[in-house]
Amino acid sequence: MDHFLYRDGQLHAEDVPLAQIADQVGTPFYCYSSATLTRHFQLFDDALQGMDHLVCFAMKSLSNVAVLKLLGDLGAGVDVVSGGEYARARAAGIPGERIVFSGVGKTRDEMAQTLSGGIRQFNVESEPELQALSDVASGLGLTAPITLRVNPDVDAQTHEKIATGRKEDKFGVPIARAREIYAHAAALPGIKVIGIDVHIGSQLTSLDPFEAAYAKVADLTRQLRADGHEITRLDLGGGLGIPYARDNLAPPLPSDYGDLIRRTVGDLDCEIEIEPGRLISGNAGVLVSRVIYVKEGEGRTFLILDAAMNDLLRPAMYGAHHDVVPLVEPPAGIPYAPVDIVGPVCESGDTFAKARPMPPLKPGDLVAFRSAGAYGAVMASEYNSRPLVPEVLVQADHSAVIRARPTFDDMIKRDIIPDWL
Ligand code: LLP
Repeated sequence: MDHFLYRDGQLHAEDVPLAQIADQVGTPFYCYSSATLTRHFQLFDDALQGMDHLVCFAMKSLSNVAVLKLLGDLGAGVDVVSGGEYARARAAGIPGERIVFSGVGKTRDEMAQTLSGGIRQFNVESEPELQALSDVASGLGLTAPITLRVNPDVDAQTHEKIATGRKEDKFGVPIARAREIYAHAAALPGIKVIGIDVHIGSQLTSLDPFEAAYAKVADLTRQLRADGHEITRLDLGGGLGIPYARDNLAPPLPSDYGDLIRRTVGDLDCEIEIEPGRLISGNAGVLVSRVIYVKEGEGRTFLILDAAMNDLLRPAMYGAHHDVVPLVEPPAGIPYAPVDIVGPVCESGDTFAKARPMPPLKPGDLVAFRSAGAYGAVMASEYNSRPLVPEVLVQADHSAVIRARPTFDDMIKRDIIPDWL
């Protein structure tokens, strides 16, 4: 459920007509709903009630500091994957004890930054990383709390590019070698083992792969305890999918996911962490764009928008589907005709949808890409020297620009012409 609904024939973000925001900030722009973000965070928090837990928002999905502040104020932790994300989380007022650090390539600088700034735990992904972390922590006179991310060799049955838990994927340590690596970790001076981490992929639409992975984590917890390790925390990753096409079967609910967690690892007396990104932010955002031209091609019609692949990369990168709807509600019974929805960037991959049935649209009309809150703005680039799209946050009847559109000057002045040119 989200808070982008037609009211009086106009698509609204909560109580604000999106067309009104388009007048104020121009197009394209991302718009997020505070109510949807709040609701989706709360669904996870409720799903884990009765267990000691922390919901750590995977901020790679949406990293605007205002959004982080909103979620942080609700009690969320965050999952970060870089020094930059850590800095953003801290700028949003999220304390170190609610920040977990994931990722296969943490640098020594990032380790030092986050150890000194305060961190809940590192999700370590390899033996060399373990050694580096121990060195850095010891050098600072600190001890790094860690989980080891295990690779359970479970197929998440999702898009090839976002499956992370199979043995051929670069993530985690092979679960079969986990006991040996835990023994090594426990012997390192700068390391304190506290738990186990697993994350098998993104946009999962079935609970079965989670169940397979969590069952393996439960077994490993018992084995590691028998080996003498104190396992007090399980980080179960993110990955629960969202409905992208309105007519799709709905993926499992957070409450079903919570029940699965209770069933598989609930009796281990561990603190539970989860790292959902997409399910919190995905349907909490839209990308609003304007039709520039309607072009008749050879047997097809192109709807040319002012948003492009640099603003919303998912269709070009994963062939992802995003519903595209006009801001003015189409009258009932109006005929829909297939169009190719494209952007102005100079490559054919800049195509959002092919032969998509759409109601009649003309230059100047506004449309919204739904489900664009996750992996939308964060994956945007300035390709074709198109300035990054602004972001707007709505709460009830008010809205605020939470990232302004850079001017051409802002964009150009980052480049430096050396004095010898
Ligand atoms: N935890 C870790 C360690 C992750 O790598 C990810 C996502 C998450 C949590 C959050 O997963 P979520 O709940 O959002 O599925 N750009 C792609 C998605 C990449 C996901 C990367 N890792 C897309 O647009 O579909």
